[in-house]
Amino acid sequence: MSPCLSLRGLSVRYPGNKTLVTALDSIDLDIAAGERVAIIGESGSGKSTLALAIANLLPGNARVQGTVEWPGLGRKAENGRDIGFVFQDPSASLDPVMRIGDQIAEVARANLGMGWRAAQALAIQLLDRVRLPEPRLAAQAFPHQLSGGQKQRVAIAAAIVGKPRLLIADEATSALDTIVQAEIMALIGRLVTEEGMSLLFISHDIALASQIADRIAVFRHGRLVEVGPARQIVSNPTDPYTWLLLDAHLGIDAHLGIDAHSGVDAHSEIDA
Ligand SMILES: Nc1ncnc2c1ncn2[C@@H]1O[C@H](COP(=O)(O)OP(=O)(O)O)[C@@H](O)[C@H]1O
Ligand SMILES: [Mg+2]
Repeated sequence: MSPCLSLRGLSVRYPGNKTLVTALDSIDLDIAAGERVAIIGESGSGKSTLALAIANLLPGNARVQGTVEWPGLGRKAENGRDIGFVFQDPSASLDPVMRIGDQIAEVARANLGMGWRAAQALAIQLLDRVRLPEPRLAAQAFPHQLSGGQKQRVAIAAAIVGKPRLLIADEATSALDTIVQAEIMALIGRLVTEEGMSLLFISHDIALASQIADRIAVFRHGRLVEVGPARQIVSNPTDPYTWLLLDAHLGIDAHLGIDAHSGVDAHSEIDA
């Protein structure tokens, strides 16, 4: 498979109180075309920093080393065109005073240079693709008229306007209740297949990640501790930290495994 994205020695540091905080430490990772890779790890492990670095959205104070390459693209990747980004909170990415159809159309106009009529027609098509009922009527709605799940569908529609090579979903289902979460997971999976996109699925939940990913990369304190096929990471991880995450999310009694591997204190570092 041809690579979509290649990270080499990617490090990101933020200025802290007195010293630099290392949010990402020398990450090497490839994502193949059409591949679904999940990044998992606790809060603060560097997952969002990785996503922002890939999408060129890091804050100005971030110090970056290493490379993010897009083989075969022949130019710098652009967010909104080559990369679609879905955030945890759809309300934050939607304008509260703009009709949702117009918001998606505006993305098409700004990023693809489409005329306004064509952009609005595309918006209705995309609302249909993300299975918003009555897309023509839905296009007229304002965000506050939609449920959380519906808003996330709109945010996903806006993210795929440019037919991106890579869709990044950063905790995109974490704020939703279980049933809506499952629906949005199914939607992301279907769109990734239909569009032939690669997927970077970011979650603190290894069980959720294993439902959608071909490969899982486990992050801890900005380091990639383990990467492998999702099935292997979930059934037979080699790193003791991965056992801890499995224990926390699948209820697997990993203590024996941990003792056998290293004797790490089982629950001390897992957040709720
Ligand atoms: N804009 C920022 N300025 C300073 N430190 C930051 C900034 N963003 C993230 N960090 C720090 O970088 C580390 C990784 O954060 P983040 O990538 O958000 O982790 P995650 O998404 O896994 O929760 C944390 O220690 C966090 O406090
Ligand atoms: Mg995050």
